[in-house]
Amino acid sequence: MPTDHPLRSDDGLVFGGDYNPEQWPESVWLEDVRLMREAHVNRVTIGVFSWSSIEPREGQYEFGWLDRILDLMAENGIGVVLATPTASPPPWFSLAHPEALPVTADGVRLIHGSRDTYNPAAPAYRAAARRLTSAMAERYSFHPALRMWHLHNEYGTVSYGPQTDTAFREWLRAKYGDLWELNTTWNTAFWSQGYGEWEEIFAPQATQYLPNPSHLLDFKRFSADLLRDCLREQAEIVRSVRPEVPVTTNFMLPSWNHYDQWDFAAEIDDVSVDHYPDTPGIEGDVQVAFGSDLARSFNGGRPWVLMEQATTMVYDYAQGRILARDPGKLLFNTLQYLARGATGSLFFQWRSPRAGAEFFHSPMVPHAGENSRTFREIVELGTTLANLHELAPPPAAGHGVNQNRVAIVWDATAWWSTDTRALPSNDTAFLPAVKSVHRALWLLGINTDFVQLDQDLSGYNLVLVPSKLAASNAEAEVLRRFVANGGHTAIWYFSGSTDENLNVRQGSFTGAFADLLGIRVEEHFPQLEATALKLSDGSTADCWAEAVELRGAISISNFTEFPLAGRPAVTKHGVGMGTAHYLATRLGEDALRTHLRRILNDAGVSPEHPAAGYGIEAVRRYAGNDSYLFLLNHSEETVDVGIHGHDLLTDSALHGETTLGPGAALIVREPWAEQ
Ligand code: GLA
Repeated sequence: MPTDHPLRSDDGLVFGGDYNPEQWPESVWLEDVRLMREAHVNRVTIGVFSWSSIEPREGQYEFGWLDRILDLMAENGIGVVLATPTASPPPWFSLAHPEALPVTADGVRLIHGSRDTYNPAAPAYRAAARRLTSAMAERYSFHPALRMWHLHNEYGTVSYGPQTDTAFREWLRAKYGDLWELNTTWNTAFWSQGYGEWEEIFAPQATQYLPNPSHLLDFKRFSADLLRDCLREQAEIVRSVRPEVPVTTNFMLPSWNHYDQWDFAAEIDDVSVDHYPDTPGIEGDVQVAFGSDLARSFNGGRPWVLMEQATTMVYDYAQGRILARDPGKLLFNTLQYLARGATGSLFFQWRSPRAGAEFFHSPMVPHAGENSRTFREIVELGTTLANLHELAPPPAAGHGVNQNRVAIVWDATAWWSTDTRALPSNDTAFLPAVKSVHRALWLLGINTDFVQLDQDLSGYNLVLVPSKLAASNAEAEVLRRFVANGGHTAIWYFSGSTDENLNVRQGSFTGAFADLLGIRVEEHFPQLEATALKLSDGSTADCWAEAVELRGAISISNFTEFPLAGRPAVTKHGVGMGTAHYLATRLGEDALRTHLRRILNDAGVSPEHPAAGYGIEAVRRYAGNDSYLFLLNHSEETVDVGIHGHDLLTDSALHGETTLGPGAALIVREPWAEQ
């Protein structure tokens, strides 16, 4: 990973956004530059979705406008993240290559008119994307404005149809070798699905009733690999021209699960993410912490790029409304991202489009122009980030940008495995389970990383497994060794009940982890939504219960009601030097925090600062050889915090008790850093 790369220039923290000059006359470009300079913009992303402006006819390139804007950026000291516009093939492409249009699961062939209208398995699309990437790499790899390649935009297109079927069959042949192996793994004897020829297998389009979950899971894996191959071939092209230019692609977090984020991260130099909290108040702040922790973890604990956030609005098409951010909230949330490792902040987008899709999406320069609250807050934010340049260097060798003792297991197969309709309860879904554990820890003031179970876990005291239905023997062994060597774990209900191909483990649910947990799970008791379960320690739970038998573990609390009265609900098992906790139900919010406190205590983990928790966020960020304590008050109360060091935001020394009002923040260079 090229952290000391010459192109990782001395710009300090990055600030700017997606810039689409092709949508505006060149007279507006000069105005843009004036405003960018006023706001301390030092980075813009150019080219995203610009395919029809760059290649208006097949093989005919119009680079003039792009040359001029890149020159203008270089002249004004603004670095460019140059995007390959391959997420939006132009209309000429779909007419020339109708076979490359995407097909939905219902068999509908889509036509251009929006974006992302292509099938990633279509050879014509791939060839066109490669050609365009090569042309851009040859022309711009040595341009003085170039800082980074931004390949594609938010990979995530899933398509069905004949070209997908062909590629899927090839993928299956490579995985299984012969049909016997596939038929056995998918248990195709169920409902007469036995395959006699590879050509009989299709991508899982709409079918009459429940599809085969193992078939579905393999299709998700195939689609993810396909998208990774699209990324890989673009990365190879740009690196073949100038290998030292860092390469990224922007992940949509946290809701996008069409690829495996860890796999994608391995293909690029820096992880970048697009992040749009969709809830006002403290719950939105919890989302900021969650997205940041994922991004940093995918980037191997190194600083990561916030490629897109929104300015004044929380944009949520799903709920059909755009909410304004409260005054000051943009700066506050951006400090949260910074605390958790962002290299700065970029936005979608620089200037509001006059018309077109997303014409009311929040920008840095709104329709109202520079005389607006939004632009004033942008100038304030840009000025603040410019003053925080000392946070920009990567942490000294051997340090992560944050150093956390707790990790949550996140992996694509775990997520995909609960994305099936045939499970005993919908309350087994991956994302809500992971979010609720991360949120509970955030409220306790505990900062977390994410890991998958093929990583070195030795730096952690505690590894939590909120949802991992599909678990391989190898993954179970990694966790067992971690605990035997003194680590601590907590595993939630239903996890490990199948192997990595959704074959149910026989003899005990949670079977992959049953020995480690010292339990056997005999039967599930999914609950109706409104049912509250009372536990013997006075806490409440809901959604799910199980018949757990102790096989070495002790019970911490029991179910109290028929038919599970007296059976364990929460257990603990000592293994080697560590402990393994099991939660056979979904604890209520308070009970979850109480129990997590117990587990944290076992694991010897405490917050970064005594004031942390319940709305006070304390995160330590490392830069160079220095450390900085970020303290942010998300609560409605004014609190006094004991702190020593130099606050970068007010440029003042702090010695002892300092008052932190609601919405206030400190970034304190710690004393030893000043010696
Ligand atoms: C994504 C895309 C952007 C834009 C925003 C809107 O992150 O990358 O092009 O559509 O969403 O929120």
